[in-house]
Amino acid sequence: MEAFLPYVLPLVLLPISLYLISFLRKNGSNNMKNHPPGSKGWPLLGENLEFALLGPQKFVKDRMEKYSPEVFRTSLLGEKMAIFCGAQGNKFLFTNENKLLTSWWPQSMKKALLFPEFVESNLKEVSALKRSFHHDILKPEALKQYIPVMDALAREHMDHDWTPNSVVKVFPLSKKYTFELACRLFLSVTDPEHIKKLADPFSLVTNGMFSVPIDLPGTAYNRAIKGGKMVREELMNIIKRRRKELIENKETEGRDLLSKMLLVTDEDGQFLSEMEISNNIIGLLVASFETTSSAVTSVMNYLASLPHIYDEVLKEQMEIAKSKGPDELLTWEDIEKMKYSWNVARESLRLTPPAQGAFRETTTEFTYAGFTIPKGWKTFWTVHSSHKNPKYFPEPEKFDPSRFEGSGPAPYTFVPFGGGPRMCPGKEYARLEVLVFMHNVVTRFKLEKAIPNEKIVFYASPTPVYGLPVRLESHDE
Ligand code: HEM
Repeated sequence: MEAFLPYVLPLVLLPISLYLISFLRKNGSNNMKNHPPGSKGWPLLGENLEFALLGPQKFVKDRMEKYSPEVFRTSLLGEKMAIFCGAQGNKFLFTNENKLLTSWWPQSMKKALLFPEFVESNLKEVSALKRSFHHDILKPEALKQYIPVMDALAREHMDHDWTPNSVVKVFPLSKKYTFELACRLFLSVTDPEHIKKLADPFSLVTNGMFSVPIDLPGTAYNRAIKGGKMVREELMNIIKRRRKELIENKETEGRDLLSKMLLVTDEDGQFLSEMEISNNIIGLLVASFETTSSAVTSVMNYLASLPHIYDEVLKEQMEIAKSKGPDELLTWEDIEKMKYSWNVARESLRLTPPAQGAFRETTTEFTYAGFTIPKGWKTFWTVHSSHKNPKYFPEPEKFDPSRFEGSGPAPYTFVPFGGGPRMCPGKEYARLEVLVFMHNVVTRFKLEKAIPNEKIVFYASPTPVYGLPVRLESHDE
């Protein structure tokens, strides 16, 4: 009898499992009567596979057409989730922050980024900072002083990584520039060896943070957790050294973002602990790295593909360059003159947004568009559902920077940085970095794509499959 068991068991178990799955799915849909329409996907897997295969844009578009253009349900990352769509969905989520919703990060992401003792904590406990602090240290007035630093680094980067080559891969190089800039402005770390000590483990984190969260040796997720530990250790060394310098009066106030974090107090008037500062710096590094590198890369992609747009940007940037001496670095006044270039960057952010939206968790049950969203569900607002809507952006696939002239797009339709109280505090930093980079590239080179129809795939952000190789032609030639 025992010899037959391996053969008989599957025959018995298979029909039982199929019955259970169909029962659970049917039962699930009965319970969902007033919940938004949609699918829970497969048991355990949810709709993760479909999301990964289709990419966020098509996943959302298909379901908006099939279920509802306002809100639909799905199951992602093991969570019951309502996806809010269009400008109305954005408005609802942005204006109900802290009333109906609170911030939420996937557990897998927290595990890779945070000290183990913070993984179960909410975002406020993790950062121990009032949210206004990020907005204060990243507001235009505070960032003005960094523009010449951004420009000087961009010049070094061009001299070292672009000028000696006839073809460059834009995506890896923009990541290098973005990370070096963050090390300089956040931590005053400028030594290449020291930057590498942070950059290598940090790339393990960003490469594995969004992968399937299986923590086994050899998986990308496992490497992300190990990388996170190494980044935290190195940050702790830096923070401890800087705190010591502060106590010994060797610290200059306003030197970088870290010095501001060392001096700020929490709501109870206490200085932040080293771990809390490390959480904040990691948060800033992660939030700024892929997003800004992807934004720079997409702008370069459009400039290399659309000569009439490139020519207009070149005209604007050359006027600024000619108004200055060759060694004079860019200033706030110069940035303010880059109006057309910023419209080009914004159109690029509309068509190829680096961030796809953001999660929240509901803190109470509420009704939206006639559907009940239970307490504890996760929500997601989506950038493409308004960016690609012809009602707000006629001929949505056309690259047209003039959309941003005058009063620009209607409220809640153009949301690459989100909106409401949780709107990205780094949007001004990103604007400055993108514009300084554009200035340095177009005033030196004409660009041509080496692979004209290079595919853009979605990973943590839109990613050109071959890293966007472009041919460079110097204006001096
Ligand atoms: C083009 C570049 C960038 C894009 C597209 C972008 C986009 C976003 C988006 C969509 C959010 C989520 C908003 C929400 O939760 O609804 C966000 C949050 C955030 N971003 Fe950015 N970001 C960029 C660059 C940066 C930079 C350069 C920094 C820092 C220097 C930064 C720091 C942050 C932080 C700290 C948050 C969390 C805010 C909070 O939860 O209160 N971002 N960003």
